[in-house]
Amino acid sequence: MSHDEFPTDDPAVVTCGLPYANGDLHIGHLRTYVGGDVLTRALEKLGQETAFVSGSDMHGTPIAVQAIEDDIDPEAFALEYHEQYEETFPRFDVAFDNYGHTHQETNRELTHEIVEALEREGYVEEQEIKVAWDPADDQPLPDRYVVGTCPYCGETARGDECDEGCGRHLEPGEIEDPVSKISGNPAEYRERTHKFFTVSKLAEYLSEFLDRLEGTPNAQNQPRQWIKEGLQDWCITRDLDWGFEYPEVADAAEDDTAEDLVLYVWVDAPIEYIASTKQYTERVGPDTYDWEETWKESGEIVHVIGRDIIQHHTIFWPAMLHVADYNEPRAVVASGFMSLDGDAFSTSRNRAIWAQEYLDEGFHPDLLRYYLTTVGGFQDDIDFSWDRFRERVNGELVGTVGNFAYRSLLFAYRNYEGTPDVDLSSEVEDRIVEAIDEFEAGVNDYSIRKATQAAVDLASFGNEYIQRHEPWNLDDEAAAPVIRDCVQIAKAVAVLMQPVTPETARRLWDQLEADGSVADATLEAALEAPPESFGEPTELFEKIPAERVAELNEKLDERVADATDSEETESDDTTESEGGDMDLEPLADERIDFDDFQGLDIRVGEIVAAEPIEDSDDLVRLEVDIGLETRQVVAGIKQLHDVETLPDTRVVLLANMEKAELFGYESNGMVLAAGEEADLLTTHEDAPLGSKIR
Ligand code: MF3
Ligand code: ZN
Repeated sequence: MSHDEFPTDDPAVVTCGLPYANGDLHIGHLRTYVGGDVLTRALEKLGQETAFVSGSDMHGTPIAVQAIEDDIDPEAFALEYHEQYEETFPRFDVAFDNYGHTHQETNRELTHEIVEALEREGYVEEQEIKVAWDPADDQPLPDRYVVGTCPYCGETARGDECDEGCGRHLEPGEIEDPVSKISGNPAEYRERTHKFFTVSKLAEYLSEFLDRLEGTPNAQNQPRQWIKEGLQDWCITRDLDWGFEYPEVADAAEDDTAEDLVLYVWVDAPIEYIASTKQYTERVGPDTYDWEETWKESGEIVHVIGRDIIQHHTIFWPAMLHVADYNEPRAVVASGFMSLDGDAFSTSRNRAIWAQEYLDEGFHPDLLRYYLTTVGGFQDDIDFSWDRFRERVNGELVGTVGNFAYRSLLFAYRNYEGTPDVDLSSEVEDRIVEAIDEFEAGVNDYSIRKATQAAVDLASFGNEYIQRHEPWNLDDEAAAPVIRDCVQIAKAVAVLMQPVTPETARRLWDQLEADGSVADATLEAALEAPPESFGEPTELFEKIPAERVAELNEKLDERVADATDSEETESDDTTESEGGDMDLEPLADERIDFDDFQGLDIRVGEIVAAEPIEDSDDLVRLEVDIGLETRQVVAGIKQLHDVETLPDTRVVLLANMEKAELFGYESNGMVLAAGEEADLLTTHEDAPLGSKIR
């Protein structure tokens, strides 16, 4: 692996965290898959050779427990969902080069090979541990077979993970007051011998690895903390009859402990990343893509995951790869959580918009892809609501991108039957080059939002450009250079939008009657001349009417109400509306006039850098891009915001605030925020940076 900018000379692989094959997919699940898909397509736009792989996670108690509930064999149960996922992803244009599953032979072989390497290198030890046991049914209760109390935070937790509390991964024997999930019987602890991967010996390697690791900051910072707290060895076997058997190890003949143990699901699941890449090579041949080059030599490994599985991808997994002499990951890109109308998705309570349901409502997958990619930075928590969905579709996709492409191509078709035969202006050429640079910088930052923004900003420039030149008031000869420029911008927009809205980009490409496919086109194509002739264009996007949203909200509200009813039995204090009984300041008596207001130069900005000021309890130094320039601002928000997540946040800045000096830093402006919690004001992102607020 290199740490050179993309594109590099080595092949890359982008992987997405494997979904457990145990339930229907909803649009919250799609966030990381769409993210991985957009990133892959964007890397390919740069000319980076990239494979995109994933597969279904078939093993472990997440499958076994559900299969018991459904009274069906776990393999049959998991395969059914696997097949469903295999069909669902392509419907959202999530186009894996290979989508396998963990119960396949390729994965079994690689898993055994890697575990044998861990044994051979002396990184596996046996330990006597306590495992939860159902005395009445006389059966072991691994992981999710048991529920109880988290020893760290006291929340209700599953045997393997404190899923509702502190989020920690729990080792067998750690959970307190265990109760069987299957029978409801109180469980007891029994002594059993298990295999442990001695991750604690690898702390030094792992901290160096984290220094090299790219991706989202959350994937670096959390594991650093865990290493500081001290790494525990990791139990890699389970008392379970579903999974891969522990491999027979040559010099362990005298021990029979391994015989009735299976490997912990988290051992073979990430190995499927390798297996899936290998299957891809087996299909296309090593000349097209060589999995060994990527995984064993010098490829660029990029993992796209949800932030709940950072620990597995930055500690256990790189540790396994390192000991087994594989290549190390270059980047871990971890998404924030996603909520639905302000509250968590809940599959069991039907508080969700299901993937299939979204399509059945007749919405194009590109719309959701666009929303998921741009509504927040990848590591930010985001929310889905039909209202905001409509806003973004009608605003940016219909209003900016669609509108620009349609008016340009229609003018070109009506007056010139295609692209006017004149030269591209240097102004527009430069602007397209700038968009390409922004796109490339976005990809190299692992920010699919920034890359996509480059495309939308270019379309919005196109609209300003056409407005500024008013070609409709010019004769054909005078209008020709303007339209020539606009058609080029439209072509560039097609290229730059392709990763996020592949199907719409294809339609635009076809309308231009451009050669080849926009999927295969690289960034240079944005500057290559469009065809001299093409036919009449059609609109790319349709507005979503307000009534439609009202209808969808009603459906969702009903469902949420049902969900809340069923929640009421569980004590839950998070639903109360925030600040409901807060003491609000009385309204001001004195009025100001319009001129007073005009005197405030308030601008739309975006935080580009944020760092805590060391000696101060609450001050943060921000760099805020306000279009015309970047301002350094000191803000008292350290306690109230996670400083690392601030970059990329759109803010509102009072630009003509008196300058001040705080802890030796000049503060040149004031970021506006609401209330005691300093809730930062933001925009819906239609307004370009630097826009004046009036
Ligand atoms: N199935 C796991 C989950 O949903 C993710 C597995 S990702 C991999 O949490 F790294 F193991 F592949
Ligand atoms: Zn906890």
